[in-house]
Parts: sequence; structure tokens; C-alpha cells
Amino acid sequence: MNDALNLLQPYPFEKLRALLAGVQPPAKKAIALSIGEPKHRSPSFVAEALSASLEQLSVYPTTLGLPALREAVAQWCERRFRVPAGWLDPARHVLPVNGTREALFAFTQTVVNRESNGLVVSPNPFYQIYEGAALLAGATPHYLPCLPENGFNPDFDAVPSEVWQRCELLFLCSPGNPTGALVPLETLKKLIALADEHDFVIAADECYSELYFDEQNPPPGLLTACAELGRSDFRRCVVFHSLSKRSNLPGLRSGFVAGDAEILKSFLLYRTYHGCAMPVPTQLASIAAWNDEVHVRANRVLYREKFDAVLGLLQPVLDVQRPDGSFYLWPRTPVDDQSFTRELFAREHVTVVPGSYLSRSVGDLNPGANRVRMALVAPLAECVEAAERIRDFVRAG
Ligand SMILES: Cc1ncc(COP(=O)(O)O)c(C=O)c1O
Repeated sequence: MNDALNLLQPYPFEKLRALLAGVQPPAKKAIALSIGEPKHRSPSFVAEALSASLEQLSVYPTTLGLPALREAVAQWCERRFRVPAGWLDPARHVLPVNGTREALFAFTQTVVNRESNGLVVSPNPFYQIYEGAALLAGATPHYLPCLPENGFNPDFDAVPSEVWQRCELLFLCSPGNPTGALVPLETLKKLIALADEHDFVIAADECYSELYFDEQNPPPGLLTACAELGRSDFRRCVVFHSLSKRSNLPGLRSGFVAGDAEILKSFLLYRTYHGCAMPVPTQLASIAAWNDEVHVRANRVLYREKFDAVLGLLQPVLDVQRPDGSFYLWPRTPVDDQSFTRELFAREHVTVVPGSYLSRSVGDLNPGANRVRMALVAPLAECVEAAERIRDFVRAG
């Protein structure tokens, strides 16, 4: 067996199951704010595009994907991230992936050099795949705490140059899971300069980029930073996008990576052997999804309603802010996060995730301690009921 498997932590949901095992909840309807799975209806025109092309199941898909999909993605990136027309060559700068999860994992295997004793630097708390991918690639994860005093972003200025020197891959998650924090455009530009200076790759996980609040101000991404810097080759920069959250299609398993053509060439080679080509019907359905923004705007309206209602109920009793984006709340808990989670389940039958399950302790600091993650994915009425129960629970002390 691969010894590195022993380095993997139990997934947060396993830890949560163990925490709640044997706890008897009251006879109220269960409400899960724990799982970050979109629950809004997926667009019917995507399902129609999928079913209209099922005869394509008779062909093997290519790893590179259909030119029409890569074209649709390149155009979407140009529209959405203000990338000058023609900079993203669909043939070289875009690859389809089966959701960002597998892509983040596989990308790490491609980028990390096993012989170099390198670091994979990531925010802390973080999406668990970054860590597992780094460990299985033979790298050492290095965690940067995301604290409220820095807007829940890592304090990149405080990172010693020895760390940047050993860094092979920097993960960004913007908007972040679980913090909802956006990495500001100026920070992205500074990080690109650091990547040039110390020769590392930036992997920007932007799978929540379409869940934001101000319709007039879509959040920038790493491609926007490249565009503003005149970096038309996107050198050292790769972004990860997905239809899962944007279009409520987590079951379609469809996303893309875009950026540095040299890196994507190696990634394509890796993927060819790994065997993770996207089925053609999925590709055709994905083209329909990337070409439409009406359903994405409607999706944001639903999240906005939920955040307004839930924050109205929770802000009087908890230290909790509206995130820059995503569907998460990341409140501070009045008691430690595991006790809060267990007691909330025991008294109100509402499930949240302890923040410390999503982060790691470095020294004596665990940036997820005394916080919980709440995903506002359930329908409005259910989110409101959960918030009312949480409010009553906190008030009762
Ligand atoms: C930060 C982050 N990245 C990536 C993913 C993976 O999403 P998908 O594989 O559906 O694109 C998730 C899913 O929850 C996530 O929270």
C-alpha cells in the first residue's frame, strides 16, 4: 500500500459523524447546514441538452475536450473576468475537468516535484482536497491562517521568504470555503509578482466566484489580475471553475481549468494517463450552461434572500458577517465549536460543521476554533427556521 495514505486525515464529515454519534436529537425536523451541496433546482435546458446528446455515449471522449466547449469557456472567461478578447486561446489555455475537486487533486500531482522537498501553501481553514493532494504528491502542506483581523484572508505579507522559496504551489480559494472572503485584486497582483520572484504556481480555486451579492460588482479573479497586469501568457497562473455552484449542477461533474499554456500542457499529459476525460454529452450540456447567465442571476437572487433573512436573525445574537461571496456563514461561537455543534444538534436538530474540523492547528493557533460553518443551501423557509432555532439556542445559553 501507498504509505502516504496514512497521512490523510479523516474527512470533516467523518469527524462530525463521530461527534454526533449517540446524541439523541429532539423530534423536530432535521435541518442540515453542514453539507456544502447546492440544493437549488438545476436549469432544465442543461438537462435537455444532456438528454438530446445521449447517443454520443457511443464515443470515447478526448481528454482535451471538444473545441466548442473550450471556445465557450474562453469566451465566458473573457466576458466575466475582463480578459481582452483573443488572449485565451481555447486550444492551449483551457481544459475541461470533471468538477474542480478531481482537478485540484490531479493538478497538484502534475505540478509538485517529488524530489524537491517543496511546500504546497494554502489558506487555513481550507478545502480538504488541497491538503490530501499535497500529501499524496509528496509535498509538505504549509498553512496560512485566515483571521478576522485580515478580513479572513491569509496575511501574505507576513509569510517569510524562505517559505516562498520552498513553495511549489500556492492554493487560493476566492471566495473562500468556509470564510466567504475574496482575495482582493491588488493582493492577487502582489502574489503574481511573488510567484515570478520565487518560481511557484498559483492555483486559484474560484468555484464560488458566481455566488456574490452586488450584481454591479462581480468579484475579480486571478485572470482579471493577469489582464490588468498585461500578462497575456497567464504565466504561473491557473484558475479552477465549476458548474456545481454557479449552475446548481454538482451531479454533472463539470468544470474547467484555464491559464498558463505550458502548465496546462503538462496537466493534459497527466490527465491522459489518469483517464479523466469528460463524456461528450456532459460537454455539450456544459456549453449550454456556460453560455447562459439568466439562471445564474436567478440563483444569486435566491442566495441573497437567504443571507438577508438569516443574517437579520443571527446578527443580534452571534458575531457573524455577510461574506464577500459563497453560500457560507462563518460565525464565532460563544463556546468551543465542537460543544456548540453537538449541543445545537442535541437541542435543535440543526447540523453545522465545527470550524476546527476544516482547519489545522499550527503552534497553538487553530483559526477554525470557536467558529462553525453554516451552508445556506436549503430552501429559504428551512434556512429561516434553522436560523430561528440557532437564535433561540444561543439566547438560551
Ligand atoms: C472550495 C471548493 N473547491 C472545490 C470544490 C469542488 O467542487 P466541484 O468538484 O463540484 O467543482 C468544492 C466543493 O464543495 C469547494 O468547496
